[in-house]
Amino acid sequence: MSLASSLGSIRTVELVDVEVVYDGSVRALKVEELVFEPGFHIVMGPNGSGKTTLLDVVAGLVLPSRGKVVLNNLVNIAGLGEDARASIRRDHYSYLLQEDVFIESLSVWDNIAMPFIIHGIAVPEERILELAETLGIRGLLKRKPSKLSGGERRKASIVRALSRAFTASVVLLDEPTSFLDKDSSTRLVEVLESVLRGKIVIIATHDEKLAEIGDRIVRLRGGVVESVTS
Ligand SMILES: Nc1ncnc2c1ncn2[C@@H]1O[C@H](COP(=O)(O)OP(=O)(O)OP(=O)(O)O)[C@@H](O)[C@H]1O
Ligand SMILES: [Mg+2]
Repeated sequence: MSLASSLGSIRTVELVDVEVVYDGSVRALKVEELVFEPGFHIVMGPNGSGKTTLLDVVAGLVLPSRGKVVLNNLVNIAGLGEDARASIRRDHYSYLLQEDVFIESLSVWDNIAMPFIIHGIAVPEERILELAETLGIRGLLKRKPSKLSGGERRKASIVRALSRAFTASVVLLDEPTSFLDKDSSTRLVEVLESVLRGKIVIIATHDEKLAEIGDRIVRLRGGVVESVTS
């Protein structure tokens, strides 16, 4: 049995004594202890305060310079190699990156379906169509990403991330409401609340309205946890 499948669903992510230093000099994050359990965790803080770095560390995309990132009190992903981390991400995580990344030569639909196809998983077509309908981009799925507006591209990324989130136990969303208008943001919040209940959801945002769904708010400043409120 692989490490990723032996983990079962992830119920805790614990950062212990974590420090991230980029390029040997930029200290982007320093966390003594932070535990994430199922629920909505909102990460707020000024530009450059370490929000994306925190999500990247939880995802095992950035390896901390020191410290541990422990799943289910069992596996320290910061001590694993690239392949093991990638398979844990594939089986247990969904991550909406801050920047929208598409293969521009493929349609929006194919971009959304691609992660499933690569991993040999049946494409959840109904779920994708339903999410696209709710977010108002169902009629745009055959277009190339470059033919979408900024907000529509964001929604396409969100549909891709949420279609994977059904089977994930850790969902990371980096500024999901960026580029979205007020009504779209409101609809997205409703979708997040209905689709992601019971999972470990960590959302980096500047959006005070979105922050209201948080069970807990973690505020960062200069890479350090300034406060945690619940
Ligand atoms: N790959 C990198 N190499 C070097 N420095 C980096 C890198 N990525 C981020 N940084 C620096 O690390 C710090 C934290 O950046 P991070 O992207 O985590 O901030 P953020 O809170 O997500 O900001 P924003 O609100 O602008 O998205 C910043 O000082 C940034 O310049
Ligand atoms: Mg960021």
